[in-house]
Amino acid sequence: EEEDDERVYQTYRNLISTLPTENGWSSSNLVLYQGSRYVPNNFLQGVMAVQQHFKARPTDILLTAIPKSGTTWMKALIFSIVNRTHYDFTTHPLLTHNPQDCVPTLETNLYRKTSITNPDLLPSPRLFSTHISCSSLPKSIIDSSCQIVYICRNPKDVLVSNRYFGNKIRAKFNKDQPLLSLAEAFQLFCKGASPFGPYWEHVLGFWKASLEQPERILFLKYEDLRSNPLVYLRKLAQHLGYPFSLEEEKQGVLEKILNLCSFQNLSNLEVNKNPDKVSHVGVEYSAFFRKGQVGDWKNHLTADMIEHIDRITEQKFHGCDFSF
Ligand code: A3P
Repeated sequence: EEEDDERVYQTYRNLISTLPTENGWSSSNLVLYQGSRYVPNNFLQGVMAVQQHFKARPTDILLTAIPKSGTTWMKALIFSIVNRTHYDFTTHPLLTHNPQDCVPTLETNLYRKTSITNPDLLPSPRLFSTHISCSSLPKSIIDSSCQIVYICRNPKDVLVSNRYFGNKIRAKFNKDQPLLSLAEAFQLFCKGASPFGPYWEHVLGFWKASLEQPERILFLKYEDLRSNPLVYLRKLAQHLGYPFSLEEEKQGVLEKILNLCSFQNLSNLEVNKNPDKVSHVGVEYSAFFRKGQVGDWKNHLTADMIEHIDRITEQKFHGCDFSF
């Protein structure tokens, strides 16, 4: 079986070596595949394996997002909602495990060549996440009736957060490369050359799909969750098929979940602070927690950068009834 795997992944590597590449973001070049930019080798091989082998179940829950839009937070919330009758809040798995490990990412956790977990053996309901764009999702997911949640975030905050994270990876794996400057990150981001980018097409793909299948795809904004957490937590639970009962509302279960999953709580836990604890993408868990604020871009971007990104966003999202 190992030999078969090796053969399959070799065909992916062969294909990847023929694809166009662009300047890198974190530690290597980005490869253009089906209109999106991917970190080659491990990541893109994983994407190809998901496309070819993943078998969705109707009971699956899939979190989708472009990186740095709030995936870690949403993983914690979804895991807590679905498993709220299984765990006590004082001994909850999220107190000792990073959310990235409670909800595996298809392409980087499960379909990486070295993965030891076969998703076909996991019990239902299975919780997964992916950064794959809507148009590149495997047919098995498109054809299934599984629930999908998309989380999107202001592109300026995604850019700032992404540069920070990319530089964490550069500092660790590509010490000979200088860190990505803000000007460089800005240029790459605007032309779509960021991981899983272009940002705008990623968002639009899921936005349109959510309009076509509102009962199946829930489109959420990081900013809305920050400003109105109770409302959106209810909405999320309802969409996933795990609505809160009146009794739970009265018992304060929603507040308990929000507190457990808050930036303040998660970022201060030993598992998420310890520099020796490393995530599936190779950097320490603490790299997933920077500031967790809305609008930190104001402290980083120049007036010209802001104007430029806003112009792109207005053009691309023209006619969509959401804004930042
Ligand atoms: P900042 O870099 O702006 O702080 P992702 O999880 O998709 O990789 O996104 C990471 C971003 O989400 C980071 O943003 C991180 O700080 C923020 N984040 C992580 N956990 C969070 C939480 N529990 N609540 C709110 N934001 C959180």
